[in-house]
Amino acid sequence: MQTRTLGASGIEVSAVGLGCMSMSQSYGRPDAAASEETLRRALDVGVTFFDTANAYGDGHNEELVGRVLGADRARIVLATKFGIIREKPGVDGAATNVAGYCEASLQRLGTDVIDLYYLHRVDARVPIEETVGAMAELVTAGKVRALGLSEVSSETLRRAHAVHPITAVQSEYSLWTRDVEKLLLATCAELDVAFVPFSPLGRGFFTGTVTEPTFGPGDMRKNFPRFQGENFERNQQLLDGVRSVADAVGATPGQVALAWLLAKGPSIVPIPGTKHAARAEENAGAADVSLSAEQVASLDELFDPAHIAGDRYPEAMLRTIQRD
Ligand SMILES: NC(=O)c1ccc[n+]([C@@H]2O[C@H](COP(=O)([O-])OP(=O)(O)OC[C@H]3O[C@@H](n4cnc5c(N)ncnc54)[C@H](OP(=O)(O)O)[C@@H]3O)[C@@H](O)[C@H]2O)c1
Repeated sequence: MQTRTLGASGIEVSAVGLGCMSMSQSYGRPDAAASEETLRRALDVGVTFFDTANAYGDGHNEELVGRVLGADRARIVLATKFGIIREKPGVDGAATNVAGYCEASLQRLGTDVIDLYYLHRVDARVPIEETVGAMAELVTAGKVRALGLSEVSSETLRRAHAVHPITAVQSEYSLWTRDVEKLLLATCAELDVAFVPFSPLGRGFFTGTVTEPTFGPGDMRKNFPRFQGENFERNQQLLDGVRSVADAVGATPGQVALAWLLAKGPSIVPIPGTKHAARAEENAGAADVSLSAEQVASLDELFDPAHIAGDRYPEAMLRTIQRD
């Protein structure tokens, strides 16, 4: 698998990582055996970048990742996050709490250092300088190698970066979620900050396997406007364009969605999520799929934000993110 470097940190990761969230929450019931097989298969096919968070399954996900990949710790780059909490207001970036969150994550992960530690959401009550100042102390203490932020504006990124170098920004980015193209990607490039697109497969949408908006218990997609009713039907019409590029390059539609992201810049490292080993292997294969400039441009045009029906999050969740 090709590798990419995370910003100015020098940390090398596989060009396609693995998002582990759905092994514990969000899109249906967890399946421990399938998840363990998926983690191992990803490693076997060259994935070295694994993404988790303390919030995923309330610690379940970090424990899973730590248990399954513990023996291979030296071979992988482990990214986790703090800042999302169950209690209202749902976010905690208080400087005094950061070390405690980190310690708990280290224990669940069964490691003594986190390679990339993200603030999951900015706490509107706390100046970013204070939260990042506390995160920087973790780097000094050797508990964390590099810092990241998730769903931040360019202005927040600049303020944070002035306190301590930020290695990566993780925000939603895919064919149908392109807000970051307005400014954030350019800000990251200017500051030499890697960009990690989350939900790069549009929560499964671009694979073409999500055919009916009839999600089962525990599947949050039923709350997302793009997956509902008429919006969903309209959005599905765009998939034919992805399928035709996939046929032209001998890849799957999901691989095309990932290759489109990889084509957007050398410091972009998508982290598709799955709890199926064969799909993890398929997604890793996207690193070998190249799209021509014309194919990228045609997908850009097809998925112009004006063509997408419905927002990516329900109203309440949109309020927790920053946009340029
Ligand atoms: N920072 C944040 O706030 C934030 C928010 C959301 C996600 N994330 C991170 O980003 C990662 C990925 O995002 P995501 O899981 O939301 O969305 P995603 O990667 O866009 O899509 C995941 C969905 O696609 C399906 N899928 C994956 N590969 C497939 C394939 N080859 N063929 C068919 N279906 C496939 C999965 O189903 P199966 O599992 O059934 O295969 C799952 O339902 C997460 O794991 C998490 O680490 C971060």
